[in-house]
Amino acid sequence: MLRAKDWWREAVVYQIYPRSYADASNDGIGDIPGIRSKVPYLKALGIDAVWLSPHYPSPMLDAGYDVSNYRDVEPIFGKLEDIEGLINDLHGAGLKMFIDIVPNHTSWDHPWFKEAIANPPENDPSVPAKARYADGPWAKYHLLRGQNGGKSEPNNWESVFGGPAWHELNDLTGNPTGWWYLHIFDKSQPDLDWTNEEVRADFRQTLRFWFDKGIDGFRIDVAHGIAKADGYPDCPEITEGDPTSKNPYWDQDALHEIWRDWRKVADEYEPQRVFVAEAWVFPAERNARYLRADELHTGFNFPFLKCPWDTAKLRETIDMSLKANAIAQAPTTWVLENHDVWRAATRYAPVTGSTEEIESNARQMNLGRDGDWKAQRDLEVGLARARANLLTMLALPGSAYIYQGQELGLNEVFDIPADMRQDPSFITTGGKLVGRDGCRVPIPWDNSNDTFGFNAGTPTWLPQPDSWKKLTAAEQESDKNSTLSLTRNALKLRKELSALGGLTEDVADLVWDETDNDLLSFVRPARLGGRAVRCVMNMGKHAQKLTFGGEVLLVSDEHGYDDGLLNPDTTVWLTA
Ligand code: NOJ
Repeated sequence: MLRAKDWWREAVVYQIYPRSYADASNDGIGDIPGIRSKVPYLKALGIDAVWLSPHYPSPMLDAGYDVSNYRDVEPIFGKLEDIEGLINDLHGAGLKMFIDIVPNHTSWDHPWFKEAIANPPENDPSVPAKARYADGPWAKYHLLRGQNGGKSEPNNWESVFGGPAWHELNDLTGNPTGWWYLHIFDKSQPDLDWTNEEVRADFRQTLRFWFDKGIDGFRIDVAHGIAKADGYPDCPEITEGDPTSKNPYWDQDALHEIWRDWRKVADEYEPQRVFVAEAWVFPAERNARYLRADELHTGFNFPFLKCPWDTAKLRETIDMSLKANAIAQAPTTWVLENHDVWRAATRYAPVTGSTEEIESNARQMNLGRDGDWKAQRDLEVGLARARANLLTMLALPGSAYIYQGQELGLNEVFDIPADMRQDPSFITTGGKLVGRDGCRVPIPWDNSNDTFGFNAGTPTWLPQPDSWKKLTAAEQESDKNSTLSLTRNALKLRKELSALGGLTEDVADLVWDETDNDLLSFVRPARLGGRAVRCVMNMGKHAQKLTFGGEVLLVSDEHGYDDGLLNPDTTVWLTA
């Protein structure tokens, strides 16, 4: 039986990126009052919960993932009472609310870091090269003496945004100290030292602060990064297929104790509060360790997001995560888009005018930080595939995430002038990595003005492409074959058909059909007295005659399934 307490096991969660959702103050950047005005839209969509990307005060050098105060609201986005209002509005509409929390690093504007900077350690060459600077304000961060008498980085660790992960400190007169602080992301995001008890106690207080305000859960940023290997050893060369634990700053065993501590805090509350981990950890068995009964409730399934358009690989990816999570008795959490990766409609679009489509497609799957973004793509096929895979995702057992604009079938925007781009990965690498701005462009709501109803007309912080005129939410409302209508229909059916969603404690919750290689086909057995449902996705190049009968419940394209013939890049849900 489904336990109401465990709503999160099959919840569909919608990610809102506050800078880009809706701008009530008309300053070009989205805000919380803007989000509040869209609660009826969220309700009508049929989701169960919202996850809000960081809303905290921040210098915005990484779009809010650089937090300077964990218990307040960024003034661009509003005030504390706005977020309290949003929690109330969502709860009033029967929706839950997750917020983001960023424990791996603070902003360099955080009071802890400001205090540390104001107290630089002495440039004393007699201090051992790899000693942790244990006392004083620096104890909350990772500060090491550089090699070669302090002149070069303490080790070879690299920042996710490009370049070394260490930045040398200057003293108050501007001279180098020979001491370096760690920043796995931007240099404005110093990593916290989680061996420090003050850091731990402070975050427990932050969790309670927001739980007391009524939020239902946290999405934990970089959940696989907060523990660093003792002694800060050099990073070995990581080869394909290696567990990330070989990397001394990812997936270290020591971090599980911290998640167990957080779980205890969540468990103090009724109704149940939950966590979703952003952990880029492979293989699936290691990822499932984050989801053990006394750790985090759910964690994103990134292998699913990264999987190329390939039937065998997709089936293997789905199987692997279901099996690994079943051991931890945790649901699998499916995701195809978020604010860090290229939009699915672009990722799945085959490169045109090239004989190297397959190779190129593989390159696109590298999440779009350094993909071949100048290549021409067939966006029509890309969108068909994104819609098909959305339907497949929503038929899989477990919880699922939808990123704002995914329900509109938005594409990645590449046509953004360099001086408007804000992603630190673009800035740090001088444009070598195109970065993530293209999936963060403000949402087109309607055709009432030049900013597609995002606000009252002030130019948006990232420019919206003219082609989105056809993709606005208002245009799609009235088109029964639009991506918006498809998403709404799918979410409505998912609620009505008890076979979908569902618990994953039992792998038999999904039964594969042995079909043609191009078809991904599975049955979700009947449960709770409802009907069984079959989901079939044609990932090949040709239409396929299906041998199954069954009543058609939903098709990812209204012309995609006729008389048993399923078009390429199309998914159908049938009764089974
Ligand atoms: C993951 C977040 O999703 C991403 O946007 C951010 O840049 C990094 N963590 C650093 O916080």
